[in-house]
Amino acid sequence: MQDLMEQLSQDLHAATTADQVEQIRIAYLGRKGTITTLAKNTDFSTLSPEEKKEFGQKLNDLKNRATTEINKAMESAKRSLLTKRKTREIDLTAPGNDRRLGTLHPITMTQMEIEDIFEGMGFSVLAGPEVESEYFCFEALNIPSDHPARDMQDTFWLKNNLVLRTHTSANQVRTLKRFGAPVRAIFPGRCFRYEAVDPSHENTFYQCEGLVVDENISVANLIAVMKTILSEVFRRDVKVRLRPGFFPFVEPGFELDLNCLLCGGKGCPTCGDGWIELIPCGLIHPEVLRHGGIDPEKYSGFAFGIGLTRLAMMKYGIRDIRYLNAGDLRFNEQFLPIF
Ligand code: PHE
Repeated sequence: MQDLMEQLSQDLHAATTADQVEQIRIAYLGRKGTITTLAKNTDFSTLSPEEKKEFGQKLNDLKNRATTEINKAMESAKRSLLTKRKTREIDLTAPGNDRRLGTLHPITMTQMEIEDIFEGMGFSVLAGPEVESEYFCFEALNIPSDHPARDMQDTFWLKNNLVLRTHTSANQVRTLKRFGAPVRAIFPGRCFRYEAVDPSHENTFYQCEGLVVDENISVANLIAVMKTILSEVFRRDVKVRLRPGFFPFVEPGFELDLNCLLCGGKGCPTCGDGWIELIPCGLIHPEVLRHGGIDPEKYSGFAFGIGLTRLAMMKYGIRDIRYLNAGDLRFNEQFLPIF
């Protein structure tokens, strides 16, 4: 029996895989294994009761020791397989994982570009609150609470006479109060309206408002600045049209429409009739200047509200406004800056 144990140790030592250890287990402890059949092959008739007892004990002992040895060998075979696998995982020559780079949202890129162009013309870039007072959003802009123009903008009302600003024009009087005249500034930002959402209407959208106040500012200055902006943004000739537009805070007021770049002016779901209302604008109403603490006898100015969301759609050929707020990276990542 001692020989058998030594033989087993040698066999196990030579085994390198779990499979080989299993084969050895079968050879020794399996149904026809050497140890299992030891009792069968022994002639008990020649043994005394004491010798039989001793044999039984030795056999049990042998089985136990063999089982322990085999289990140990099995464990270490499995462990060395794991180590091998782990070593293989660290392959210093393997190419690295790509790091995902973020991209800018098409509206952000459009906004940055507009800011650059205006800064080049001496404008400051300002920001104002999205939660705005009724005063700056409406009253200071000649839109008292009983004015029908309030119906033009479906408003999200908050408590304490606060609203989610319906337009960036809310910054006009803030800017005038703060900087006085002369002043040149733009204030891009997010606006909110209680709109039924469709391919060209969203409840959350971006505008880029701007104003110039100085002595002798006229409609000619307004048109010149608007033309410069659009030709810089689109880097090509664009067709625009100016038609009268009503806004209580400008006089005269205009709608500057852009010939749709998606359909070439033929008419499509985005523009409707071939024209996109892009830049409402006009000369600042004397009453608004007064709210801003500015003497309308001395100063005049123009204001405009570029539809930043619409501009981004035109620039990048986006046909449905709803993609812009959907937060789908597959959409957001497609756009490269056109600087
Ligand atoms: N605030 C107006 C709107 O959102 C647009 C506008 C801005 C009109 C500036 C005239 C001057 O509809």
